[in-house]
Amino acid sequence: MKRRTFIQHLSSAGLSTLLPAGTLGTALAACAHETQNAAFDFDTVIDRSGTWSIKYGRATNGEIPMWIADMDFATDPYVHAALSLRLEREVFGYTTTPPAFVDAIHQWIQNYHHSQVEREWINYAPGVITGMNQAYLAFTNPGDKIIVQPPVYDHFKLYIERLGRIAVDNPMILENGQYRMDFEGLEQLIDSQTKMLVLCNPSNPCGIHWSQETLTRLADICQRHNIIVISDEIHSDLTLWGERHIPFYSVSPAARSIGMVFAGPTKSFNLAGISCTAYCVIPDADKRQRYTSQLKNCKLDEASIPTLVATIAAYRDDTRWLEALKHYIEGNIQQVETFFADHQLGITAHHPATSFLCWLDCRALGMQQSDLMDRFKDGAKVILSNGAGYGAGGEGFVRMNVGCPSSVLNEALHRIAQEFG
Ligand SMILES: Cc1ncc(COP(=O)(O)O)c(C=O)c1O
Repeated sequence: MKRRTFIQHLSSAGLSTLLPAGTLGTALAACAHETQNAAFDFDTVIDRSGTWSIKYGRATNGEIPMWIADMDFATDPYVHAALSLRLEREVFGYTTTPPAFVDAIHQWIQNYHHSQVEREWINYAPGVITGMNQAYLAFTNPGDKIIVQPPVYDHFKLYIERLGRIAVDNPMILENGQYRMDFEGLEQLIDSQTKMLVLCNPSNPCGIHWSQETLTRLADICQRHNIIVISDEIHSDLTLWGERHIPFYSVSPAARSIGMVFAGPTKSFNLAGISCTAYCVIPDADKRQRYTSQLKNCKLDEASIPTLVATIAAYRDDTRWLEALKHYIEGNIQQVETFFADHQLGITAHHPATSFLCWLDCRALGMQQSDLMDRFKDGAKVILSNGAGYGAGGEGFVRMNVGCPSSVLNEALHRIAQEFG
């Protein structure tokens, strides 16, 4: 990116006013230099030791950690520059959420996802899971049922249960290597205590891109039974292979009347440690009011300085870093698919439509899940996520995080070949 363009972006995003005049020139020049020809570096292995990384904290014995869903890449240099420049302002007092925050998200949804939303539908969320938890509290009572569709991100069920609600499984159907929702099963298990359904769109860990048809049918069923749909779309910025993400609220008036969509730049710009970089789109005015009151009552409605700066910087009108990242991830996924196809280890890779997570089917190995996990960790010295943790249908699977330099991925695959070959 040229220096002039970079400065223009900072000002149009409302970030330039945050920056100290003295340091601006040097930092911007450095960033501009780094991003001059949009040749972003995903190959360098970055030492994460001493950074309190949860992922690396588990790798105490020389293992390659490929489990929890953050990437080993540096964030977009532009986001990094914006954060660094704000830190140089030295004063970190109570901070209001500027209109630039919602403006950035609004533009992002329209320009990057090509989806029409009203500006007023967009609300801050104190993290996707924390925001969803607040929705459970605002719209359901202890003892109410909330449907999840496993295999799915484990923190759905975890927090539904911790908050005293009942998580009810409607497992997905896996047929000929493809997952689909079980609509018949869904209709059968809904009763008067069922108040919500949590959707993972796109799905983690299976990497499913849900179609317009599926989402429309889901919305129709849920509206008919007066069930709110919480759609977790945190992985949507990373929709791959030229596909376009379909936000839940975009599919029909029914979806807009019952849907709440949580998303943010946490995964796409690798900002998990900044935390709380999330938003929630709620088209229905009554639900919006109840959600925002819930946040206010718990004092969860104030975004932090890093959250505001990182989100505004990430969601600017320049996606070159993100496009380069997605291209790199696609390369890594292809490497995994080719490897398992060539090596015939009894492990099959599902083709993810999105994100940096590969869902590996190890059922042909016929192993107990705990033995399988031990073989990966202690034998191959590669730490993967346990498929069984994602609920019904996850047994016999593992999830591999390929958000890492391809040399690291190569080494991990080599170790797996040695152990399972
Ligand atoms: C589907 C899904 N939702 C939510 C999260 C966590 O989001 P947050 O850190 O904003 O709570 C993750 C992290 O792995 C995820 O995969």
